[in-house]
Amino acid sequence: LQSSRVLVTGGAGFIGSNFILYMLKKYQEEINIINVDCLTYAGNLENLKEVEHRKNYKFLKVDVCDKKAILNIFQTYDIDRVIHFAAESHVDRSIRNPEVFVNTNVLGTLNLLNAAKLAWETEDGFKPGKKYLQVSTDEVYGALEGEEGYFYETTPLDPHSPYSASKTSADLMVKSYVDTFHFPANITRCSNNYGPYQFPEKLIPLMINNALNGKKLPVYGTGKNVRDWLYVEDHCKAIDLVAEKGRVGEVYNVGGHNEKKNIEIVTMIIDTLLEMLSAKDPRRKLISHDLITYVEDRKGHDFRYAIAPDKIKAELGWEPETPFSEGIKRTIAWYLEHMEWMERITKGEYQKYYEKMYRM
Ligand code: NAD
Ligand code: DAU
Repeated sequence: LQSSRVLVTGGAGFIGSNFILYMLKKYQEEINIINVDCLTYAGNLENLKEVEHRKNYKFLKVDVCDKKAILNIFQTYDIDRVIHFAAESHVDRSIRNPEVFVNTNVLGTLNLLNAAKLAWETEDGFKPGKKYLQVSTDEVYGALEGEEGYFYETTPLDPHSPYSASKTSADLMVKSYVDTFHFPANITRCSNNYGPYQFPEKLIPLMINNALNGKKLPVYGTGKNVRDWLYVEDHCKAIDLVAEKGRVGEVYNVGGHNEKKNIEIVTMIIDTLLEMLSAKDPRRKLISHDLITYVEDRKGHDFRYAIAPDKIKAELGWEPETPFSEGIKRTIAWYLEHMEWMERITKGEYQKYYEKMYRM
C-alpha cells in the first residue's frame, strides 16, 4: 500500500464514517487517517467511537471552506491521498436552502483542490503517488425518464436539483484541475447508498425509524420513482480501489444494478421488521402496511437513476458483493441494535426539521 497518510473529509457522516472504519480494519497500522469534519447536523463522532483512541487516527474539527486551516493541514502532514466526502448531501434540504450547498460542495471542493495542488506540485508536475478522489454522485447525470437505459461515464451532465447542480459544479472544478494542470485526481459517481449510520432524513433509515415508532411512512408522489441501491461497504471498497489503482483523470461510475421503486423499499422494510421482531415485542403491534401515506411529491423529483458500472468492473475488477436481500436485513438489524444512536440524533434539531418538512 502506497497511501500511508489519508485525509478524509466528512468522515463523521454516513459514508465517511463507514469508510474510515473499513480502512482501519483493512489496513490496520499501515495507514494514517486524518478526518476533517466541521460536524454539521449530519456529522456524528459517535460513529467513530471504536477507533477514536487509535494512534493512526486523528480528528480535526475544520470546515473544508476554511482556507487557512486546510492549507495548514497540508503543511503539517505529508498527505498522500485526499478522499473528499464532506458535503451537504440531502436533496430536500437543497430545495429549501441552496446556498450552503454551493458554499460547502463547490467552494469547499475548490479550497481542497487548491491546497492539495500547492502541497503536491513540483517544478515539472506533481510529486509521485499522490491522489485526490472526489466522491460524487449519479445525480449529476440528471434522470432517466423511462424504465430503460443507464448512466455511463459518457452520459452528459444534466443535474436538476440544487444539490446535484452543486455536486456537478464540484466535479467540473476537479475536471478543470485535471485538464489544466494534470492534477492527479479521480471522480467516482455512485448510486444511492444504504447501511449503518445513515442519517434518518434519508429514505431507508427514515422509514425504519418511523415504522418502529408507529409513525406514518411518507412516500413522495406515486412511490414509483426508482433508485439504484448499493450497500455502503461496497461503495467504500470501490473508493479505496479507485484511489489506489484508478487511472489519473478518469471518472468511474459505482453501482450494483439494484433498481427498486421507492414503494418496494418501504414495503420490504415493513415486511422485514415484522419478520425480525419477536411476537412479544410491543413495537410489532405498531407496524403495518396501513402506515404507508402518499404525500406531496418532491419538487423536480428525478424519476429514475440506474448506474452502468461496466468501466470499474472491466478496469479495476470491482463488483458489488452484498445482495440487496442480505444488505437490507443487515441494515435493519443494525438499526434495531442501535436504537439509542437513533434516539440521540432524532432529538432536537431533527424534530424541528421533520415537523417543517412533513407537517405530519
Ligand atoms: P452525510 O450528510 O451523511 O455526511 C456529510 C458529512 O460532511 C458530515 O459529517 C458533515 O458534518 C460533513 N460536512 C458538511 N459540510 C462540511 C464542511 N463545510 N466542512 C467539513 N465537513 C462538512 O453525507 P453522506 O451520505 O455520507 O455522503 C458523503 C458524500 O458522498 C457526499 O459528497 C455525497 O454527495 C456523496 N454521495 C452520497 C451518496 C448517498 O447515497 N448517501 C451516494 C453517492 C454519493
Ligand atoms: O443517487 C445518489 C444520491 O442518493 C446521493 O447523491 C444523495 O446524497 C443521497 O441523499 C441520495 O439522494 P436521493 O434523493 O435519491 O435519496 P433520498 O433518501 O432522499 O430519497 C430516495 C427516494 O425516496 C427519492 O426518490 C425520494 C423518496 N423519498 C425520500 C424521503 C426522504 C420518499 O418517498 N419519502 C421520504 O420521506
